[in-house]
Amino acid sequence: MGLVGRLKERVARVKGDLAHLARIARGGRAPTSISRARQETERRGQTVAVRRVRVEDVIRETEDAVTLVLADRAGGAIRFVPGQFFTVLVRLDGETVRRAYSASRLSEDPSRLYLTMKRIAGGRVSSHLNERIAIGDELELLGPSGSFTVTPGRAQRVLVAGGSGITPMMAIAEWSLTHESETQVTLLYGNRRERDIIFRARLDELAARHAGRLTVTHVLAEPGEGWTGERGMLDRETVARLAAALPIDAEYFLCGPEPMMVAAREALTARGVRAIKEEKFTQPHLRVEADVPAVARRVEMRKGGVASLVVAAPGQTLLEAGLAAGIPMDYSCTMGGCGACKVKLTAGRVVMEEPNCLSPGERAANEVLACIGRPASDDVRIVL
Ligand SMILES: Cc1cc2nc3c(=O)[nH]c(=O)nc-3n(C[C@H](O)[C@H](O)[C@H](O)COP(=O)(O)OP(=O)(O)OC[C@H]3O[C@@H](n4cnc5c(N)ncnc54)[C@H](O)[C@@H]3O)c2cc1C
Ligand code: FES
Repeated sequence: MGLVGRLKERVARVKGDLAHLARIARGGRAPTSISRARQETERRGQTVAVRRVRVEDVIRETEDAVTLVLADRAGGAIRFVPGQFFTVLVRLDGETVRRAYSASRLSEDPSRLYLTMKRIAGGRVSSHLNERIAIGDELELLGPSGSFTVTPGRAQRVLVAGGSGITPMMAIAEWSLTHESETQVTLLYGNRRERDIIFRARLDELAARHAGRLTVTHVLAEPGEGWTGERGMLDRETVARLAAALPIDAEYFLCGPEPMMVAAREALTARGVRAIKEEKFTQPHLRVEADVPAVARRVEMRKGGVASLVVAAPGQTLLEAGLAAGIPMDYSCTMGGCGACKVKLTAGRVVMEEPNCLSPGERAANEVLACIGRPASDDVRIVL
């Protein structure tokens, strides 16, 4: 930006700050420090900027699942912890739509990211990514996000996956087998038909390479003729039977359709398993919408002893309002799935879409997610 551009921007900011201060004066609120917060934001280089990536390869995994191999346009490494996901931003019909996809492979080349999408009948984004994306296309990403990750040093991990729920498990299995020397990994993987099994060849190859350390049990709801493996659903009874001989102190991971996850959790907790991590593929836009009247709200945001008063426009989240006012705020997925934007609510009412990733303990401690939290009263105060 040239000198004139910078000057114009500065003037616009000062005007914005003055407007804020006038509003604060009218409301008789606590002293604020918007410009200071803005400077801090700039120093940290924090913006709502997303990472632009190019599709380097498209791998057809099954009839309904595709892996996109992505590279940062700026040439940087795309780092993540196995089990984490990225938020993909797709332009569809003039609107930007966000969906989460878990990193599905540990790449030897850190400039490459593998995301695998299973097409859902009538699914807007999964159909677009399966049918219309080609090498050379560009996408935008946020992340990585999520805490569906391993605790290093566990002797045994048990992964229970259904359908597309295999994606984070693949990265976790690969990491466990290649970065730990002794860990045993057991995968129980449910699908409808044999041809729906995603990563079958990679799983076979991993099991052969790490002989005796990876055990894979496929469970098919509609097995074809000649199938000699497990049949049926990954329901409570099947999980209980298949997990009967596995140690209860192993680290357990669940990811798949909701009924499978409920059944697996019940079967495992009935056995006395305590360490169970779960990743729900619930989409933000299918959550119950928070009912918030369409009015602007004043919010006090306190960080490191500095209080800033911002105005959240109708419908704006705390995160959007804070970043727009130049307040440095932490965030990652921007869709209520990772907890990076947690803030403490000390006064007023904030409503959020449900379900989200907040635990009962965090709710009891009055923590809210700034990325999906909207102020519902005029006396909201949060501590960042
Ligand atoms: C943390 C996280 C990680 C995820 N990782 C992956 C991944 O690695 N691979 C992957 O394929 N997906 C993953 N998902 C799911 C993904 O984000 C999308 O929800 C999915 O691709 C469907 O989006 P869509 O736009 O195609 O469907 P939409 O157009 O939003 O929905 C179309 C219809 O499908 C139904 N539907 C939507 N999602 C599902 C679902 N998951 N199962 C069954 N029915 C559904 C809806 O009820 C709706 O009726 C993840 C989700 C989360 C929250
Ligand atoms: S940024 Fe991930 S939950 Fe808010």
